Amino acid sequence: MKVAYAGEAQMIVDDALNRMYEILETEPLSESKKNEKPQDSSITLDNVIFAYENSEVNAIDGINLSVKAGEHIALVGPSGGGKTTLASLIARFWDVKRGAVKIGGTDVRNIPSDELMNYVSYVFQDSKLLKMSIMDNIRMGRPDATDEEVMQALRDAQCMDIIEKFPDGVNTMIGSKGIYVSGGECQRLSIARAFLKNAPVLILDEATAFADPDNERLVQQAFEKLSKDKTVIMIAHRLSTVTNADCIYVLADGKIAESGKHSELVANNGIYSRMWNEYNKSVNRQVGKAGV
Ligand SMILES: Nc1ncnc2c1ncn2[C@@H]1O[C@H](COP(=O)(O)OP(=O)(O)OP(=O)(O)O)[C@@H](O)[C@H]1O
Ligand SMILES: [Mg+2]
Repeated sequence: MKVAYAGEAQMIVDDALNRMYEILETEPLSESKKNEKPQDSSITLDNVIFAYENSEVNAIDGINLSVKAGEHIALVGPSGGGKTTLASLIARFWDVKRGAVKIGGTDVRNIPSDELMNYVSYVFQDSKLLKMSIMDNIRMGRPDATDEEVMQALRDAQCMDIIEKFPDGVNTMIGSKGIYVSGGECQRLSIARAFLKNAPVLILDEATAFADPDNERLVQQAFEKLSKDKTVIMIAHRLSTVTNADCIYVLADGKIAESGKHSELVANNGIYSRMWNEYNKSVNRQVGKAGV
């Protein structure tokens, strides 16, 4: 038992060290010297090519895409197709190898980083919370927010059940003994952060797997409310979430394999229509299992 625990502890330490080395080895992106501002919340990708360092393959391989201010688009497609990478380029976590990413007509490389940070909210696929109280975790979305504003963001993001299950409520310290927050709950808390920040461009990288359907439904409700009047990039694994999108892009091997509205893509009999059939089959299987 002791040996197993020691092994696990060693793995955690190794993981932490690896992450630290990764960060130390990553060159910071150059700060913009231009101080330009986006004109609105539209997004354009002009022939974007991107490869991760030490990789011969382009993770994004010549993508053109245009989202008008206030439109909601969806990125779907096979695992490893490039969805998260594309979204990361919009938030300028990385710089493109060729081409340009523009927000409101302005190249993201010419927008000062604090301005860009205020312009884009990103809810990650594997959202992480920091070792501090829930209140302080959410307040990171807007450091000058009052306690009541943080509480409102938590209500808007459907997080009250999470708060209520801990005796210390919003003052619960994340990471302390016996405090367990599931992936879906973590996503909802990140959505609360995004409510507080209220940036005009919103990126949601939906978690790949939810622990339970209630959680999934709450994340979707919270995100729908947050999406109102914003330009939205929704990365979806469950296709039911994207049927109303203004445009759906199917990404495979770093390229746009197909794009269009849900009904157009279903009628196309291509990769999306196959994904849609598979999705419905898996939903039916789950309904069958539940004996409904
Ligand atoms: N930090 C990284 N360093 C190197 N390669 C990476 C990194 N992140 C992703 N990749 C590679 O880039 C490609 C695109 O990955 P990406 O994470 O964008 O896919 P995805 O469409 O989001 O997949 P999923 O549906 O599983 O989330 C994959 O081949 C992946 O292995
Ligand atoms: Mg991803």
